[in-house]
Amino acid sequence: MKPSIIINRVRTLKGIIKVPGDKSISHRALIFASLSKGKSIIRGISKCEDCFSTLNCLKDLGVRVKERGEDLLIYGEGLFAFKEPKKSLDCGNSGTTMRLLAGLLAAQNFSSVLSGDKYLRKRPMKRIVEPLRKLGAEISADKGNYPPLRIKGKKLQGVRYSSPIASAQVKSCLLLAGLCAEGRTTITEPSRSRDHSERMLKYLGVPLKIQGRSVSIKKQPFEGKEFFIPGDISSAAFFIAAASILNGSKIKICSVGINPTRTGFLDILEKMGADVRIKNRREICGEPIADLIIVGSNELKGTKIEGKVIPRIIDEIPILAVVGCFARGKTIIKDAGELRVKETDRIHAIVSQLKKLGAAIKERKDGMEISGGKKLKGACVMSFGDHRTTMALTIAGLGAKGVTKVNDTDCINTSFPGFEDLLKKLRKTQSK
Ligand code: S3P
Repeated sequence: MKPSIIINRVRTLKGIIKVPGDKSISHRALIFASLSKGKSIIRGISKCEDCFSTLNCLKDLGVRVKERGEDLLIYGEGLFAFKEPKKSLDCGNSGTTMRLLAGLLAAQNFSSVLSGDKYLRKRPMKRIVEPLRKLGAEISADKGNYPPLRIKGKKLQGVRYSSPIASAQVKSCLLLAGLCAEGRTTITEPSRSRDHSERMLKYLGVPLKIQGRSVSIKKQPFEGKEFFIPGDISSAAFFIAAASILNGSKIKICSVGINPTRTGFLDILEKMGADVRIKNRREICGEPIADLIIVGSNELKGTKIEGKVIPRIIDEIPILAVVGCFARGKTIIKDAGELRVKETDRIHAIVSQLKKLGAAIKERKDGMEISGGKKLKGACVMSFGDHRTTMALTIAGLGAKGVTKVNDTDCINTSFPGFEDLLKKLRKTQSK
């Protein structure tokens, strides 16, 4: 039987927690350490299924990896030392694994196939296939757009590419291809997506030129280093939201990444009247981190979310929809059509299930409209096999009257193993 989560209404959350390492940064640490020369140590890596997909693909490409306690040691042998894989590389559910590795594999001197699970096989890949071909890559996709991706490694030549979508996966795919190509590769985005690849490359000593919405890179070997992975703000977002909507709550989340390309969620919560304090700001491996203190409120108000902020909150929109249900007045989300091509169609998934809980919420082509403040009532809801939808619905259940059951919840491990235990901890502290 597939596991489910049963949630009762909770008055407040209290306590101090730490969330697991950032998923996006963990993928990049694994990949860049494998491309480096010498030993790298990765501390605080995310143990989520998506990151295991990247790790296993790299092992299948001949990368030597050792576990030492909680740390991971990677022995890189340079940009072109990967071995031809004996079988197709399984990216599981992970779009980041597939899109980033495609950039690297396009420049190797062997053939490879990248495949994925039933959800990943429905996700668009034309967005990387087309620009990679401009660099000279030989790559094909099912119906021109879907996995599996078949790649015949080639010598690549840098180009200038202007991407129609603000996507860190597209940008990072091309940065990886550009890192292994002759000449210079320049990528321009319509608005800035998360910049973890750029920060990590700089940390590793690879010279990058960043000008506004453009970044450019040239081939450059580099050495292994020590990586510290900050807590994942996209995972923290579920508890930040929960504490914000439950008046009387007070929680602290330690050592969370607060990279400005990821903190749109905090900016929007502030606009909605939430009380989130950022303390003890510091930097590790080129990434800003801090401790967050969140105090609950019953004064939240609706807001309009659109335009340039969307790439900065792309993974937080399902949980923002939940916050919108608990805020007075209208919350309108626009320009978020990208959500329809995530692990599932997240607009349809979250709107249809929040409706089951009694929310006044309507689906729009590129977002949703919520009339907040209507009391939610427990019901049985579906996860659509999507980790962020599942966790967002669980948080909605905390504020709903009666019992909420979320079905098919093992997908949480895609990004956040330990989510339920941390939630239990915050509930237990409160009842003491
Ligand atoms: C990611 C980029 C985003 C995000 C995903 C992780 C990354 O995807 O939604 O969860 O690590 O680069 P897009 O590049 O498709 O926007």
